Amino acid sequence: MTRATVDRLSEYVGQEVEIAGWLFNKRGKGKLQFLLIRDGTGIVQGVAFRGEIDEADFEAGLALTQESSLIAAGTVREDKRAPGGYELSLSSIRPVQIAEEYPISPKAHGTGFLMDHRHLWIRSRRQHAVLRIRDEIVRSIRDYMASQGFYLVDAPIFTPNACEGTSTLFETDYFGQEAYLSQSGQLYMEAACFALGKVYCFGPTFRAEKSKTRRHLTEFWMMEPEIAFGELGDAMDLAEGLVRSIIERTLEERRGDLETLERDLAPLEKVVDDSPFPRITYDRAFEILGPAGSDTPFGSDLGGGDETILGEHFDRPLMVTHWPKEVKAFYMETDPDDPTRVLGVDMIAPEGYGVIIGGGQRMESLEELEKAIDDHDLPQEAFAWFKDLRRYGSVRHAGFGMGLERVVTWICGLDHLREAIPFPRTMQRLYP
Ligand code: 4AD
Ligand code: MG
Repeated sequence: MTRATVDRLSEYVGQEVEIAGWLFNKRGKGKLQFLLIRDGTGIVQGVAFRGEIDEADFEAGLALTQESSLIAAGTVREDKRAPGGYELSLSSIRPVQIAEEYPISPKAHGTGFLMDHRHLWIRSRRQHAVLRIRDEIVRSIRDYMASQGFYLVDAPIFTPNACEGTSTLFETDYFGQEAYLSQSGQLYMEAACFALGKVYCFGPTFRAEKSKTRRHLTEFWMMEPEIAFGELGDAMDLAEGLVRSIIERTLEERRGDLETLERDLAPLEKVVDDSPFPRITYDRAFEILGPAGSDTPFGSDLGGGDETILGEHFDRPLMVTHWPKEVKAFYMETDPDDPTRVLGVDMIAPEGYGVIIGGGQRMESLEELEKAIDDHDLPQEAFAWFKDLRRYGSVRHAGFGMGLERVVTWICGLDHLREAIPFPRTMQRLYP
């Protein structure tokens, strides 16, 4: 018999097919039982009538507990009232394993409990929708980058030096030598773009974030493009095109999952209309923040509250440029018009979802770079290879890093980054 998946039942109307999955829920009485079966692609209702199916199979159906695994067969019927539009008239029910009493019941559980059971929680409808949207976003990123002529070049995870400051480094012993888990693949992408022109890496990155905010994970995924001969504006254009294409594709391909999450689609639809994303300087941002009640001192980094104010002030992603040198990383190029500023950019998502992208133009001159490394108290030796890039055919270049979980959180409308990744790692969570 044909093994079908729930998402493709429309291709089998009138035919008998087999579905392999788990019992999501069931109801019924007397002669009739309804089994909600999920198979990872969706949930379908199977209907069994006593008398129309083997008695043993009917009894097997009655014995199924929540999350028992099973293989069921039945004829596919179109039914407007059924969730998904199709139903199975069951002809056989074969349990694979009868599940013990399932710890996650339909009643409300606390987040701590659910996170302790994350390995099971991902089977639930909402988590399932988030994971499918994440998958779609990742694929849309890869497709967009390829369409723009970028090569994927993977960066290492064990690194000998810091990229984003020394306060969030995870240290590890590397055969007697000190090593760190990568905070960012950027430095390696700078090398790679001088080899391949337009490149990106996309992998896990690590920050020993001691903060317990809803926007920080200790392990998160970052996509980092780097453009040889590119300037700040080129990085910003790429960032805008990329975000637009991610939203467009998700709205197209994952509308059903967004609806499962009860995501308000209007703000997302606004992002893909033709108006450009606003671009403002750091100085201009303060003209908005002050009157809105922020007490962040001018010249310092923006806080989560500031990002929320700015994100809500505009109805689409906003790019803030020309940051004070002191608040940004050592590698940022100095603004030729103002030596106190760097050519950096942050993209802030609307609706209070915070910064999704950070990047800018990279420091080009060897002399200035050596000074910046000293100013940030970083060891010159560790950056010897990085400095080589300024010795052998150095050119202007720019890029950025996009935090995948920040984007997923925004698009899904989640409260916390921990639901945007299958198995979150935070300061308080290493299990499961
Ligand atoms: O601003 P960040 O630290 O930039 C870099 O790492 C650059 N080296 C990237 C580059 O230019 N190639 O991080 C970039 C993005 C942030 O805007 C945010 O979206 C995300 O990564 N991010 C985090 N996401 C989750 N948890 C954390 N602890 C994060 N830290 C940064
Ligand atoms: Mg940043």
